[in-house]
Amino acid sequence: MTKQEIILANKEFLFPAVFHFYKEPLVVAHAKDQYVWDADGNQYLDFLGGIVTVSVGHCNDQVNAKVHKQLDTLQHVSTVFANEPQAALAKKIASITPGGKLTKSFFTNSGTEANETAILTARCYTGNTEIVALRHSYHGRSAMAMTLTGQGTWRLGPSQAGVIHAHNAYCYRCPFGLTYPTCDVRCASDMEELIRTTTGGRIAGFIAEPIQGVGGYITPPKEYFQIIEKIVRNHGGIFISDEVQTGWGRTGGKWFGIEQWGVTPDIMTGAKGLGNGSPVGLTVARPEVADGLKGVTLSTFGGNPVTATAAKAVIDFIEEQKLMHNCTETGGYLRGRLEELKDKHALIGDVRGMGLMQAFELVEDRKTKTPATAQTAMLMEAMRENRILAGKGGLYGNVIRVSPPMNINRTDVDNFITALDQSLAACSALTAGSAR
Ligand SMILES: Cc1ncc(COP(=O)(O)O)c(C=O)c1O
Repeated sequence: MTKQEIILANKEFLFPAVFHFYKEPLVVAHAKDQYVWDADGNQYLDFLGGIVTVSVGHCNDQVNAKVHKQLDTLQHVSTVFANEPQAALAKKIASITPGGKLTKSFFTNSGTEANETAILTARCYTGNTEIVALRHSYHGRSAMAMTLTGQGTWRLGPSQAGVIHAHNAYCYRCPFGLTYPTCDVRCASDMEELIRTTTGGRIAGFIAEPIQGVGGYITPPKEYFQIIEKIVRNHGGIFISDEVQTGWGRTGGKWFGIEQWGVTPDIMTGAKGLGNGSPVGLTVARPEVADGLKGVTLSTFGGNPVTATAAKAVIDFIEEQKLMHNCTETGGYLRGRLEELKDKHALIGDVRGMGLMQAFELVEDRKTKTPATAQTAMLMEAMRENRILAGKGGLYGNVIRVSPPMNINRTDVDNFITALDQSLAACSALTAGSAR
């Protein structure tokens, strides 16, 4: 198919709700390591990684060699049969969870399903029904996952019962108009009143992303989750960490994002970067919590030998190549270079994130903090012109999300920053032009 035929077929044969970045969709033809190529043969430096999913580089040789071999050995059995790749993956995951305490895994195909399983398990284990999620969160696209999600854009159709939303720690736009640290992390302590006033006082659990991904890499102060954890446990709830974006070392130095905040969760969910592009969903829990899910359950594709092989190979690669360390080092370097761009371009109001999960928020004016939504769309086009890819996010569509493969180096960062600098300059010139 030609590029135009692909674009037309997408329009004609996909649900109209399937949207693409850019005015003219980017048709990706192939990819390798940190690069992708479009249908016209143009090369792009990929600092989005298929939405925080290409954790160890596109078509990683080491991972794919194992996947190819497994494809020709055993492709599918479902969870009703035992197989070595699933067993080996579950064993490996049990050895790296916080404190080695979460040792029972259930595999599915996506982050959405992983979160569905987590909520069901929390309710069965505690005997309570109410779930507290956060505003600005994103947890997937099933009916329950959309109900958990705290952004209107991503909530389609009717909501499910039994979910309430607490304040997140969006310090740049504090919901209480306060400033950290004199705020005493009011957004966290507010949880007590929320539970007392909107539930019967007993909850099944709390679910959150350690850094909110789709929300625009909103990064809480270090005390936030510890305060929340105490309140949640006092009301009978368990703590679920959605590690779909923050897992597998991306935040630097630790396997899981929640470890950065000194909280040991009862359940964690994962997907995206775990498979480096292979569809794997993970719900991993403390044994007694997993025991709470009585009866039987299955997932046709869960624990699939091929995707389980990919996931185990990804974890091994991260470990062997010390990528958690690289996320700290190269991520720190990236952060410094983004801060330099903030000094230079007034359009950037805030830079935030951790490790190789960094974002910047665009504002029309640093005092009023009016979201620069139109300029962000313009910047996305300019970045494409300059052959770099990054993501867009935030409730107002004014955050650029940077999450490259975890095995990039400083030269890649420099190349990205040079192209980003040019793109920001082009965007500012255009904006100034349109203001005249
Ligand atoms: C934090 C988080 N949780 C869950 C999901 C849903 O995962 P999936 O799209 O694999 O269903 C996403 C997807 O972006 C996510 O970012």
